[in-house]
Amino acid sequence: MSHTKLVPSLLLLSIAATILSPVIAQQQCHFPAIINFGASNADTGGLAASFRPPKPPNGMTYFHRPAGRFSDGRIMLDFMAQSFGLPFLSPYLDSLGTNFSHGANFATFGSTIRPPPSIAKQLLSPFYLEVQYWQFERFKPTSQFIRNQGGVFATLMPKEEYFSEALYTFDIGQNDLTAGFFVNNNPQQVKDSIPDIIKTFTSNLKNIYNMGARSFWIHNTGPIGCLPLILSKFLSAEKDSYGCAKVYNEVAQYFNQNLKEAITQLRKDLPLAAITYVDIYTPKYSLFSNPKKYGFELPLVACCGYGGPYNFSISVGCGGTIKIHGTDTVVGSCDKPSVRVIWDGTHYTEAANKVVFDQISSGAFTDPPIPLNMACKR
Ligand SMILES: *[C@@H]1O[C@H](CO)[C@@H](O)[C@H](O)[C@H]1NC(C)=O
Ligand SMILES: *[C@@H]1O[C@H](CO)[C@@H](O)[C@H](O)[C@H]1NC(C)=O
Repeated sequence: MSHTKLVPSLLLLSIAATILSPVIAQQQCHFPAIINFGASNADTGGLAASFRPPKPPNGMTYFHRPAGRFSDGRIMLDFMAQSFGLPFLSPYLDSLGTNFSHGANFATFGSTIRPPPSIAKQLLSPFYLEVQYWQFERFKPTSQFIRNQGGVFATLMPKEEYFSEALYTFDIGQNDLTAGFFVNNNPQQVKDSIPDIIKTFTSNLKNIYNMGARSFWIHNTGPIGCLPLILSKFLSAEKDSYGCAKVYNEVAQYFNQNLKEAITQLRKDLPLAAITYVDIYTPKYSLFSNPKKYGFELPLVACCGYGGPYNFSISVGCGGTIKIHGTDTVVGSCDKPSVRVIWDGTHYTEAANKVVFDQISSGAFTDPPIPLNMACKR
């Protein structure tokens, strides 16, 4: 392109930006806190505080210690907190060193929307969505009671108005689907369970709204058929052209379609709320369909795992110990997690989380199509 053409269009752009920017600045939301509900993709230490913490090399890239996350570094929720200029979220369940002044995280690894079925209890967290709601229901008044003691207590708890100003975020549902597969339900049976899963989600969201929440940011579920967790269990499943197991991704898409419809209804039922549906499936799937675009390689292979074509075994996870040729060996990290998509077979690397976060926060994958910093009620 010649410069003569470029200059006027740049000029126009900068004029437009000058005229528009006061408007844009006015429209930006101020989120002083994040209240998160979810599962392992959004766990900042809830499971670690209550059961068995993730072991090294989890956390190696950023925190240089496991830090309660199932990743080599930051998860999407961390990138969100940083983008708002807020500290990382403390897990509600942690009794050590927590600071809830800018929000709380109720997510734990293995959490489901519906109560875990007894046959899958070993695989799942007891802190399913309704339990997280009960915890929040206690957190709100109790945090204010403590705040009113003044002094150092006040600095550890959110201001009262933060409860209506906060962004309420959700990343949950994947385990309802994968647990179904692991107790040997076929894909059709798992699909049949989805309307009830969504109904349970909706009723919890309404309860949270009734506690004063107004801005909601709701992730759909990712392409579970691309995860080593699923691929290694169902080795003979039919694959798409990128090697992901088709039928499992179809179930995820069916969940997402149901969730999106439920959110459309919620907007009618809860007129005071701003509810954003966030498609994480599409940007996550593009990591598998077009890894080179983002500088990634071996997208279907776990970086920190052991065995088989996907470097994953359900019997020994990242940081676990196995005997190889009679020697105890720790399941460690691949050489460069920064060029990998999947960290431990189920969760994404920090590098992948960053790519997905940048895409969803732009507004390109949200309904309504607004960026993260405008997802509030005005
Ligand atoms: C809690 O975090 C806030 C925000 O980072 C900070 O201002 C406050 O001093 C912290 N409280 C304590 C006791 O560290
Ligand atoms: C598989 O995991 C091991 C750790 O057990 C790691 O050393 C290796 O690099 C991983 N393989 C690939 C291809 O990433």
